[in-house]
Amino acid sequence: MSHGQPNETSGFETRAIHAGQPPDPATGSVITPVYLTSTYVQEQVGITKGYEYSRTGNPTRTALEECIASLEGGKHGLAFASGMAAITTLLLAALKPGDHVVLADDVYGGTYRLFNRTFKEYGVEFTLADMTHPDEVEAAVTPATRMLWAETPTNPLLKVLDIAALARIADAHNARLVVDNTFASPYLQRPLELGANVVLHSATKYLGGHSDVVLGLIVTSDELIRGKLAFNQNSIGAVPGPLDSYLVLRGIKTLAVRMREHSANAQRLAEYLETHPKVVRVYYPGLPSHPQYEVAKKQMSMPGGMLSFDIAGGEEAALKFVSCTRVFALAESLGGVESLIEHPGAMTHASLAGSPIEIGPALIRLSVGIESADDLLADLDQAFAQV
Ligand SMILES: Cc1ncc(COP(=O)(O)O)c(C=O)c1O
Repeated sequence: MSHGQPNETSGFETRAIHAGQPPDPATGSVITPVYLTSTYVQEQVGITKGYEYSRTGNPTRTALEECIASLEGGKHGLAFASGMAAITTLLLAALKPGDHVVLADDVYGGTYRLFNRTFKEYGVEFTLADMTHPDEVEAAVTPATRMLWAETPTNPLLKVLDIAALARIADAHNARLVVDNTFASPYLQRPLELGANVVLHSATKYLGGHSDVVLGLIVTSDELIRGKLAFNQNSIGAVPGPLDSYLVLRGIKTLAVRMREHSANAQRLAEYLETHPKVVRVYYPGLPSHPQYEVAKKQMSMPGGMLSFDIAGGEEAALKFVSCTRVFALAESLGGVESLIEHPGAMTHASLAGSPIEIGPALIRLSVGIESADDLLADLDQAFAQV
């Protein structure tokens, strides 16, 4: 490895810190500078140092795009202003009116809303399928199907979808498999290595890791999609600014250590919740009782920091519980170092109300942070005492 230039055999942790981030050629700065500029001087018309205008490209953003491509094991990374901006740009790049998508039946509410309210208006149809059952996916495919859209683990029910099995189905039908890898992060799971064509992140979550930035990322090795995405990234212009790109680059440097702690803490809380008399059901892929425990073990290196549970006493108990915690903050989003608690039915997934995939009223979702596990457990304990 020359200075800041990891090679293909470098470990994940090394690439997370160095990929795309050699020392700044102008100054030797070890950390990639935040290139706060909208435009770049041209020596003569068309003679540039590789950059013309910051919607089209910015060196801080390029560093992030190269870093995430390396971590996901793909050829090309592209950054967007948010996870939803990434999804929108991808759908516009990959689909046309009349195309059909098979959509996992447990996805982020905003993703469902985008398909159901926005893209439907432009003639893109979709069918929901329980993707834990490959035969349901097969049954949902039509001659117009061009994409399978999976999220794993899913938000908020933590279903684990077999990426390799879905990739085989997509292949057989000449469709692309897209995996939203937000919950796992590339440290725990790399969908492209399992046959997915495109991997997508709300980098707002674990990649950023500190709840201080909104950003989206896509990685693919599919040259056709990459070309259309790069065109649309510039043409549509839903790009992140350099400071946001820098914040995610900095977050990624500690991704591996954070994910190990998130996962260890979540495992401990899941085991505690599973034996609690006021808990009806725990959804966490690290529990042997999880229906896809074996799939999770096969494709994830750890079960991750997200878990959900149904509380006894229904909606009333759930709404009370989420306002009784003191370390867990009642807030939307996830993946930061601090623990968050929320009621998906009324918060992140409220847009599913009245839909076939409405979230149950007793469900509580935890984004388990990296505080002391003892403190987190004591916090849940005192909240249970109040419901
Ligand atoms: C799994 C998943 N995908 C996509 C998104 C959308 O990302 P963003 O909020 O960065 O637009 C979210 C947001 O919560 C999410 O949880």
